[in-house]
Amino acid sequence: MSTHIKQQIDDLTAELKQHNYNYYVLAQPTISDQDFDLKLKELAKLEEANPELAHADSPTQRVGGEVTKEFQTVRHRWPMLSLGNTYSEQELLEFDQRVRKAIGDNFEYVVELKFDGLSMSMTYENGKLARAVTRGNGVEGDDVTTNVRTIHTVPKTLKGDGYPDLFEIRGEVFMHRKAFDRLNNERIENGEVAYANPRNFASGTMKLQDSAEVARRPLDCFLYALHMERSPYKTHWESLQAIKKWGFHVSDDSKLCSNINEVLKYIEHWDTARFDLSFDIDGIVIKVNNYGQQEELGFTAKVPRWAISYKFKAERVETSLESVSYNVGRTGAVTPVANLKPVLLAGTTVKRATLHNANEILRLDLHEGDTVYVEKGGEIIPKIISVNPDKRKPNAEPIVYLTNCPVCGTPLERKEGEAAFYCPNDEGCPPQIVSKMQHFVGRKAMDIDGLGDETLETLYQKGFISHISDIYDLHLRADELKQMDRFGERSITNMLAGIEKSKEKPFEKVLFGLGIRYVGETVARKLVAHFKTLERMQAATLEEITAVDEIGERIAQSLVEYLSGEVHQQELQKLKSQGLQFAAEEKEVVLASDKLAGKTFIISGVFEKYSRDELKEMIEQNGGKILSSISAKLNYLVAGDNMGPSKLEKANKLNIPIITDEELLKML
Ligand code: IVH
Repeated sequence: MSTHIKQQIDDLTAELKQHNYNYYVLAQPTISDQDFDLKLKELAKLEEANPELAHADSPTQRVGGEVTKEFQTVRHRWPMLSLGNTYSEQELLEFDQRVRKAIGDNFEYVVELKFDGLSMSMTYENGKLARAVTRGNGVEGDDVTTNVRTIHTVPKTLKGDGYPDLFEIRGEVFMHRKAFDRLNNERIENGEVAYANPRNFASGTMKLQDSAEVARRPLDCFLYALHMERSPYKTHWESLQAIKKWGFHVSDDSKLCSNINEVLKYIEHWDTARFDLSFDIDGIVIKVNNYGQQEELGFTAKVPRWAISYKFKAERVETSLESVSYNVGRTGAVTPVANLKPVLLAGTTVKRATLHNANEILRLDLHEGDTVYVEKGGEIIPKIISVNPDKRKPNAEPIVYLTNCPVCGTPLERKEGEAAFYCPNDEGCPPQIVSKMQHFVGRKAMDIDGLGDETLETLYQKGFISHISDIYDLHLRADELKQMDRFGERSITNMLAGIEKSKEKPFEKVLFGLGIRYVGETVARKLVAHFKTLERMQAATLEEITAVDEIGERIAQSLVEYLSGEVHQQELQKLKSQGLQFAAEEKEVVLASDKLAGKTFIISGVFEKYSRDELKEMIEQNGGKILSSISAKLNYLVAGDNMGPSKLEKANKLNIPIITDEELLKML
């Protein structure tokens, strides 16, 4: 019996450790929070009855999480604890009774939204942000100060006065759903792996070593706890009001409640109102308001006794798998999709769920006709959480991921470190060819009127077009087009006019339309602003490209590879001869003033209000000049956050005045 229990404890411990790793380190959880909590409770129960079999580093004893390698590890001055949580009203009433038993009836609760992001602890010294550290394992975390400095709602300098000289403040870093949708779509368009939800996106962003890329991804941060020695505040509520005055982003949806019934009403309200928020929450946090009473209640080994979180249940249904189909995207990525027996879930009929990649099929151990559990959290696309193996038919075959492209039959390839398989036949695989052209004529790129996705597909199938440049030869075949059933004379005229007009589209739209991996709209704009012409871009070295503001090695590598490909070079040459724009529009520089005439500047670091390009433009429009390196000729160094220490040192050595963006504006 005891070997059986030992096995159970060992298995559960290993499984939960893996889930912790997936959640905290990879930011890619493969289990719902609810299931995780159930398993954790099961393990705690087994350990309680058999303490001699419990592992010393059991997940029941730890907050979870590991420290990521590349950042400096910093110890938290006050440990970052987790919260006990519950999904039931009954357990909440029991929590209230425990509190009552310990401190009597005279107390208040503060109820807050439970923001679904990653927790962050920030230290302020003399009113300035000194350090920002992730939760890590609760005792020590990663120093991600440079990344947190890019979050606009985290004050770098505090407002007003009355703040203590030294304090730690904690909150949740998250991404609004709208930003998530926009950036995730950009990733999909660029052929990058999409994030499953805003929390993973926020968490993945914080792990980046490149803070310029972090700055591109708008994050927000709600603050919910203040830690300091000898606090002048008697209650949590008072602290929240104070930190709001110092400039921190504090949710206006927090509320003071005088009893548990008011708490239950608040929960009931947010159970549905949460879908109207611009960000995800996964529950409600209930805290005893008075600090003295919090102290009386104290902590268990892991969680405070004065707070608890109530988690919303994710809606989940059971259905069956009908088949798995595969989509080939513009970049050749082959994505598996589960076709399900239609089922009603959270108000919509679900017929399909994404399977992401081959690993996901393995993780689920998916078999033909399996009964699956589908869940919809805050996300739009439902996902299969798990399979019910008990309902599996005895002879069901496992689903095996393809080895060859489902359309052109080319053997699939997997790039090192990537989860997706790719069809490498980018010049000959029909869905890749068609979706590349669809991307080119699409609204965000050349925006060609009269040439929709279906028309493009028909034109491809009938052999009229197989390269982007063929689109610009269509006018030569107008008579042939008119012979085709589907095309009326008017629609052909419209289409050809739309194609002709698109030749006026600026270079940045053309560059984005080419569909070069990782070259999204913003990157295309930056590249064109910097290099101005295709020739200069083609002549640039990898180093010169990475030197462009916000362009990293991965983008530069992809651009160089694309531009050096022979087929691409011929195509670009042809497009150029057809009259498309491959040079930035010459903007007539109208000097706003000559206030900076004869003065030279370098801009370095990250700025809260302006991008570096905007500042450069301002300087140039007022007669100033931008230099490329620090020398005695330099008049001013405009410094933002995260400026490299060597630049600072050099400027100091040469006695060059270092100014802020605000001081620059004053000069204008
Ligand atoms: S208070 C000692 N308040 O939930 C407890 N946490 O499960 C300190 N969270 O690590 C946490 N919203 O990442 C608190 N309004 C809120 C919260 C919140 C989200 C997260 C936080 C914490 C986790 C605990």
